[in-house]
Amino acid sequence: MSTTYRIAPSILSADFARLGEEVRSVLAAGADWVHFDVMDNHYVPNLTFGPMVCQALKPHARKPDGTPVPIDVHLMIQPVDALAAAFADAGADLISFHPEASAHVHRSVQAIKSMGCQAGVVFNPATPLDVLDWVIDDIDLILIMSVNPGFGGQSFIDSALRKIEAARKRIDATGRDIRLEVDGGVKTDNIRRVADAGADTFVAGSAIFGKPDYQGVIDAMRAELAS
Ligand code: DX5
Ligand code: ZN
Repeated sequence: MSTTYRIAPSILSADFARLGEEVRSVLAAGADWVHFDVMDNHYVPNLTFGPMVCQALKPHARKPDGTPVPIDVHLMIQPVDALAAAFADAGADLISFHPEASAHVHRSVQAIKSMGCQAGVVFNPATPLDVLDWVIDDIDLILIMSVNPGFGGQSFIDSALRKIEAARKRIDATGRDIRLEVDGGVKTDNIRRVADAGADTFVAGSAIFGKPDYQGVIDAMRAELAS
């Protein structure tokens, strides 16, 4: 079976003064998901946007033909549960969190799912995958950080490739449909290597929003993935 790749532009690198328009543009250019980076100036040293912005963008998260597109919320916040609930109410489709930021990882996963969202866990560059031993049967997504969270525009950390390979083995062993997403420093010139390691979903912030021609970048990424 061939892999269905998903490209998830991170609006962290979009023009915040025109966010709705930016989301519509990147979806018209062929993006599959909207990646929504939530930072709290506590778990990570930066501050972005909350559930009200998610709610405001929800009507814009559509293809030009009206097809809804998933909003992929990446929580870099501590604690997790109360804001996860607020994001579920605000229209998030997938909600991922860092296990270090939750005192009760299994409970947070169950809480996200009970609100009708898909649940993911996120692994920082130096965080081992061990927690998957206990939650992999419950989650819908694994997000491997290939930079330290907090900022866009950083360089890809190569050791993430080994972690992606390890996560892919764990997913395949379950036989379940779990997305393997990679976040940080993904560009046209490394996306093929990231896919070869086993990823199927690619966050890209500065590689897309930093460029004038969103469609050109997304087309080039898809061409790499098809090669
Ligand atoms: C970093 C965020 C990323 C970031 C990626 O903490 O989680 O989603 O926006 O940006 P680039 O693609 O520029 O590395
Ligand atoms: Zn992210």
